[in-house]
This record gives sequence, structure tokens and C-alpha cells, in this order.
Amino acid sequence: MTVRDILKMGDPRLLRQAQAVTEFDSDALHLLVSDMLDTMAAASGAGLAAPQIGVDLQLVIFGTNETNPRYPNAPLVPRTVLINPVITPLASDEGGITPVLEEDWEGCLSVPGLRGVVPRFACIRYTGFDQYGDPVDRTVQGFHARVVQHECDHLIGRLYPTRMRDLTRFGYTEVLFPAQAPDQDE
Ligand code: NI
Repeated sequence: MTVRDILKMGDPRLLRQAQAVTEFDSDALHLLVSDMLDTMAAASGAGLAAPQIGVDLQLVIFGTNETNPRYPNAPLVPRTVLINPVITPLASDEGGITPVLEEDWEGCLSVPGLRGVVPRFACIRYTGFDQYGDPVDRTVQGFHARVVQHECDHLIGRLYPTRMRDLTRFGYTEVLFPAQAPDQDE
């Protein structure tokens, strides 16, 4: 049960290509997952990637098993531990062949206080493993797909501002959304 420090943009450790996890169901891996869950909860995050706490491994966590009372209508993303992930963009509609990008606002615990509009694939399949080495294989869309792409970008050293196409839609949360409670960061 340890809340770890979250690295902020500018730290070179956020720019690394993370290493694959090779040993599952180990004490060290379970401890890392436990610390990441504590850290995400303490920061009210929607997701967290191991590089954000300085750990150079392909491991992300995201989602929650409870509805956030502040966002009762937010789509529920199940709490997930995803290791060595592979993302495949999919066509959103039946019969479509080209994956579609859609834009929406994102924040990041490593870029505190800011929000930006980021294009992401609307529909993806993601595969990988949980901390026990059991396979994960899901096809998802919308917010769930966005969170996964955001977190997995941390594993290749990408922060969301480097995905933005329109920097006029990048700014401070309190200025952009003065009337709203703060949204969750990823
Ligand atoms: Ni992030």
C-alpha cells in the first residue's frame, strides 16, 4: 500500500520505450500493481502507466468497478491490469474497412492542470495479459478505447500533447471548463 510519486512532463523517463514484462504472478509484480492502484486512486485518475511512476515496464492500469458519484453517466470501464499490450485499430461500423479517428478532450496525471483535444481510434481491439499471466482480449470503443490508447502511449514514450493536431484546443482546465468539476486525468 504505497502511493508513488507521479513523474511530470519533462522527465526523460516518460520518453522511454518500456520493456516487456517477462515474469508473471511474482511478488514484485503484484506489489507494483498494488502500488499503481493506490497511486491512481489517490490521484483520482482514470488510468496510470508504469512509466509514470518511473518503472520501465509495459504495464498499465485503468478503469474502476464503481460508478463515480460525480459522473453517474460516465461509461463504466472495468478495472483492468494490462501487460505487454497490443492495440489493433478496427473499423467502427460493420462493413467499414477503415479505422476512424474521433476527437475528444483528455488530461494526464503527468501533465497536471491541462486539457487538450486528441484524435484517437474510435474502435480498437486490445490484447495482452493480466498480472497472473492470463490473457486479456477485448474489442472496445469510445471512452474505453480512448483510455487504453492514452495509457499505452505512455509505454512508447508518448504524452497526449504530441498527438494533438490543433494546439488552439489545449489549455488550463480551470479556464477551459470553469463551471465543471475537474474531470479525471489519465
Ligand atoms: Ni497519461
